[in-house]
Formats: sequence, structure tokens, C-alpha cells
Amino acid sequence: MSKWYKIDSNRTSNAITFFLSCAFSSSTFPANLRFASYLKSALVASTVPRAFGLSPSPSLPNPPTTKVDGPIIMLGTSGVRALLFQLLLISFVFFSLVGNGSAGITSSFIRSEWPSIDIPLDNEAFAVPKGHNAPQQVHITQGDYDGKAVIISWVTPDEPGPSKVQYGMAENQYKFSAEGTVANYTFYNYKSGYIHHCLVDGLKHNTKYYYKVGMGDSSREFWFQTPPEVQPDASYTFGIIGDLGQTYNSLSTLEHYMQSGAQTILFVGDLSYADRYQYNDVGIRWDSWGRFVERSTAYQPWIWSVGNHEIEYMPEMGEVVPFKSYLHRYATPYMSSRSSNPLWYAIRRASAHIIVLSSYSPFVKYTPQWRWLREELTRVDREKTPWLIVLIHAPIYNSNEAHYMEGEAMRAVFESWFVHYKVDLIFAGHVHAYERSYRISNIHYNVSSGDRYPVPDKSAPVYITVGDGGNQEGLASRYRDPQPDYSAFREASYGHSTLEIKNRTHAFYHWNRNDDGEKVATDKVVFHNQYWASNMQRRRLKKNHLRNADGGIASY
Ligand SMILES: [Fe+2]
Repeated sequence: MSKWYKIDSNRTSNAITFFLSCAFSSSTFPANLRFASYLKSALVASTVPRAFGLSPSPSLPNPPTTKVDGPIIMLGTSGVRALLFQLLLISFVFFSLVGNGSAGITSSFIRSEWPSIDIPLDNEAFAVPKGHNAPQQVHITQGDYDGKAVIISWVTPDEPGPSKVQYGMAENQYKFSAEGTVANYTFYNYKSGYIHHCLVDGLKHNTKYYYKVGMGDSSREFWFQTPPEVQPDASYTFGIIGDLGQTYNSLSTLEHYMQSGAQTILFVGDLSYADRYQYNDVGIRWDSWGRFVERSTAYQPWIWSVGNHEIEYMPEMGEVVPFKSYLHRYATPYMSSRSSNPLWYAIRRASAHIIVLSSYSPFVKYTPQWRWLREELTRVDREKTPWLIVLIHAPIYNSNEAHYMEGEAMRAVFESWFVHYKVDLIFAGHVHAYERSYRISNIHYNVSSGDRYPVPDKSAPVYITVGDGGNQEGLASRYRDPQPDYSAFREASYGHSTLEIKNRTHAFYHWNRNDDGEKVATDKVVFHNQYWASNMQRRRLKKNHLRNADGGIASY
């Protein structure tokens, strides 16, 4: 008996791509993309396996004689079986032959989303703490090179008040105190609250501290956990968020992140999007954002890097000092890494050496940032911190139409260093969509000769764009087509990433999509350390531990 099937060719095509890609999960680069593409086309054109997105169409009992939506193909049950067998046979032969190839994936997931508008100022997401002059916008960041200090910052709205932090290792028992500084600034006619920064140092590693800021009935108490001592097998979990803003999508991202159990945020720029406003509202939206993220920033360090929305060059309002609001509000421990500027610096935390760069400060040869990075890279000790991670705002490899090639200037200057020093991962934001690359480089290209296209390079970093925090500008949903060979996975949805460093050799990575209020792990990879996991170690690790660590998870 014959049966009719209606093919959703898009879904079928993507399912086949996904199937092929999963099957090649151990790969480092799509060596056989052309063949995979050919096979995909052939399968879509000639077969209709139910497993690949085929759905029965009972409304079509007979062969169609009129037009219908999409291609219709007639198959008998025996025909389906034969084609399935044929597919399995082709797949077996194909996988046996190619072994080490992979196609990139463009996710076709279509999500519903909240509108890209900021949450109203009177929403409880921005609630002002009770009490006269109560500290608000509390946030902490690492305060030194190795994680034995924090910088605690907060704002008092009405008067300066004390800049003192009381702290201790038991709740309500504050045996110690530290004195900070206070300052305010103006932006157009807006006058900021009193912004306090207090360095609390001499802390013990791997210890929970409780702290209190403010006075009397208006004082507020929080806690944080210091990281383990810097050593190569220290396990630690980072979250990665970018381009967050203050919409309902931003709130969804933040709440999902807080469920993750990650211990520190690596923030890849574009914080509040206050520069989308004018006049006094710019400062007001910086304040609301500070209150919005306090639920996380008061309890764990956020490692800050700047994006274009922090520049705030607004001559029409008489504001021409770049990064004015950001620099007053968000401190960084830049002097601990011998940097001359808070916009670029480095920290070591657990088993990671994290380098923060500014996409919007001079970085060409001989500039302060260029000279600092050259020195800082020589200070990286992979025997102590195996994981070398770089944060920037404008991505170097990204195939979205939005901001296409805006990172190219930095690529031309720094890419050869990234490859030489075997950087593990480079996280960026800016593009409001997710994308992960293969390990590729384009360091042999120059204006006279050399390859003009990125090539597989085992020493190169993986480039990850996580600019999908959820700000008011909305998603960047248009990708360049076809997906370039360097692109491993891309999807235009809001979300955040987590990087679980397990030891000196491997780390689990997830990108988590906000899916109608649910957190869905959508892209997952096992990363092998670029310094410790030699090819031999990679093979052994893969064989013994990682082959199906998480249901076909890819490994690099
Ligand atoms: Fe940006």
C-alpha cells in the first residue's frame, strides 16, 4: 500500500546537516564540506526518511495532480525501507572514508521573544532598596592579579555616607573593615549618586566572605566566595554574557545564568545601553541597570570589558569624554597586571589567565594597549594557568551580516600572537546572535601574498560570539549565506554561555538559549587545553573519557 509524505525541505535539510555534523563530532575542521553538501543535496532531493523530518500527510490519500506547498514524493513502505537502508549504507561508507570532517550548523530554530524594549523604570526589576541613602547598584569584581582581593562598589543616592566595607567569614560577624573612595560625576544635567569603590584585599582563597555596606537601618549585607588558589588543576566555572541591556529578554538571560551555578561572569561589553537615551535619561538608565544586575553582581565578580555602548561620545549634549559613565561606575584591577588603563588588563583566576582587551581603544603597533599585551602574553604561565582566555567586544570571526568584519583591524594586529601563544578561547559580543568557530587562522595572509581565507590551524583559538544577552536593539538574525567554512555553529537567539573548567586538560562548554522562559543547552563542546592536551593526550582522553560524554558532544 502506498503512503504519501509531505517534506518540510528546510527542516529535512537542517536535520540532515545536523546528523552529518554530529557524526563527525571529533573533528577540528570541515575537511569534506563539499562532499557533505553534495550528500545532503542528494538526500534531500531523492529520499524521504521519516527520521529526518518527514511527516505523514493523511489529507493527501492519492497522488497529487494539483499544486501543493513544497515537494511531494510518493513512496511505498518497502521503498522507505530500501531508502533507509541505502542511506545507512551511504553513511557508513562515507563516515569510514572521511572520519575527520564536519559541516557547520546554522540553527533554524525560531523562537518567540519578548519585544526588544527596556523594562519600565517603575518595574520591580529596578527596585530601589528601602531606607535613607541605602546603598544600591552593589557590584564586585576581582581586585588583584590572583583572586585574593575584590573591589566592592556601590552607589548612595542622597549623600556620600561612609565608603567603608565591613567583612568577615561568618554571617553578621564582621571582624574586618576596609576604607574605599567616593566620587560622583555629571552627564549633561544629570548628577550621579555617590559612587563608592573599596578594595578588600588579603583574603584567603576558596573562602566564603560576608560583607556589609551602608549605615544603620539602611545598611545591606551580601556575600561572595573567593576562587581557589591559582593552580593548573583548579576546577572553576565561568559564565559568559554580552550585550545585556535591560529588557525582559535581558532579565531572562540573567535569571537563566543565575541558575547555572557558574562562579564568575566574563562580560564581553555593552552593559546598560543607556546611550540609547538622551540627556538626563542616560544617567538614569545607568542607575537602573546597576540595580537590575545587582542580584548577581553583588554576590560574584563580573569581569568587565567595554563595548561601543560604553563610549558615549555625545557632543550634541556637550559630552565628549569617552567612557565617562563606565569608568566612574565600574572599576577594574588594571594596575595589578601592569596596565596603564582600566580598559585593558588581565587577571588569573583558578586555572585560567584572562586577558581583557578594548576594541575601542588604540591597539595598533606601538600603542599602549599593543605594548601591554605583548608583555602580558610573556607573563602567561601555562604551568600555573593552563587556560588562556581573551575577552574582546567586536568579534574577529563572525559570519553575521551585523557588524561584519568590524573586528578585522584587531585580527590583523593580534591574530599571530593569539596563534603563537595558543590562546584557548576568545569570547566576544557586539553581534546580537550566537556563533562558534572552528580552530582557524588567517595569519599567512598579507597585502602582497598568502592565503586570503582562514585555514584550519590546531594552534588557533576557538572564537565565540555571545552578544545575545537581550538588549533593546533586538536580535541580529541575518547570517551570511552560505555558512563559511570557519563557522561551526550559529543561531540568532538570546542566551548565555558557561565554561566549566575541569582540570588542566579539558573543559565543558555550553551555550544556553532562552527558550520561552526555559534554559536550553543548545551548543555544547568539550574543549581540550591548547597547552596540555597534545595530540596524543587528545586521543587518549577521547578514547577513555570523552567519547560520548554528553550524547554525541563535539570535542576540540
Ligand atoms: Fe556592541
